[in-house]
Amino acid sequence: MPIQFKPEDSRNSLVDEQKLVQTAAALLVGDKGLLAMDESNPTCDQRFARLGIPQTVEARRAYRELIVTAPGLADSISGAILYDETIRQRTLEGVPFLKILLDAGIVPGIKVDLGAKDMAGHPGEKITEGLDGLRERLAEYAGMGARFAKWRAVLAIGDGLPSRGCMEANAHALARYAALCQEAGLVPIVEPEVLMEGAHTLERCGQVTEEFLCAVFAQLHTQRVMLEGMILKPNMVLPGSTCPDQATVEKVADATVACLLRAVPPAVPGIAFLSGGQSAELASARLSAINTIFKLRQPLALAFSFARAIQQPALEIWKGEDANAPEAQRALVHRARCNRAARRGGYSAEMERS
Ligand code: G3H
Repeated sequence: MPIQFKPEDSRNSLVDEQKLVQTAAALLVGDKGLLAMDESNPTCDQRFARLGIPQTVEARRAYRELIVTAPGLADSISGAILYDETIRQRTLEGVPFLKILLDAGIVPGIKVDLGAKDMAGHPGEKITEGLDGLRERLAEYAGMGARFAKWRAVLAIGDGLPSRGCMEANAHALARYAALCQEAGLVPIVEPEVLMEGAHTLERCGQVTEEFLCAVFAQLHTQRVMLEGMILKPNMVLPGSTCPDQATVEKVADATVACLLRAVPPAVPGIAFLSGGQSAELASARLSAINTIFKLRQPLALAFSFARAIQQPALEIWKGEDANAPEAQRALVHRARCNRAARRGGYSAEMERS
């Protein structure tokens, strides 16, 4: 049930708190989740290059058209995160993607960070940039119809990493971004990601994730961000991709929810996990286990905001060929349905065969 926010609780007259709460509730509605289709051009091009797809504006447009027009997408997807290029694009017939999404009942959002850049004085670490001029960019996107935004910060685990300096600088930037979003009437999706690359254990990922989330929520409090009007987009707690001990689905679910219960204030209406490079099936299975095991203990909605774990199978089928578009759309909608089932704890490997 969506959180009831009373106007008398208002702390910041510049922020339309009721609107933010309503948008957050719309994004977390029922058992739906978010589709992240906000890859920057370089990231999208890299994924295209691996499959031999031309890295052109037109190829990116055609791919995004395939996604937004996929029949039945809105049954499982409440909101779509776009990229600056994509939010301005249209179908071949000239219909703006924004209109297609809105007509389907999918809430449009926008990635507003300008990427994770090497951090001075912190070898091997990244700081996300994009705060300069953000107020003006947010106003433009809100005027175009976006209702929420996303900012991703990344932390690597390694020898002596992450550093406190990197963690705090990223937490601070996330909180300043979130405050500006709320001022602009946009729900901030706050994405502190602990990367999966490395040989670290599940336990180490749990410690780092908990510490990062605590640093983020301390900064959100300091920057007067209204927790009821935001969504958290964290990583699941996972062993590093080259860790010899790959945990069971149940262990991942256990560690993830334990971490969230410790670090996330219950005023936050919901969590929408990133997939972070997990296989599509494993991401669904883990999300399902998280929801199944902890349904009764976890006060927050536990949803998804996947990019690769929804799109990758479709991209591999499409390969840049128009003729493959309908099959790619079916694969995309299938993954969205699997994750919708996972939100209810109802995903099973059987669904992959249906
Ligand atoms: O910022 C990254 C995306 O929003 C989530 O992508 O699910 O592929 O990790 P992913």
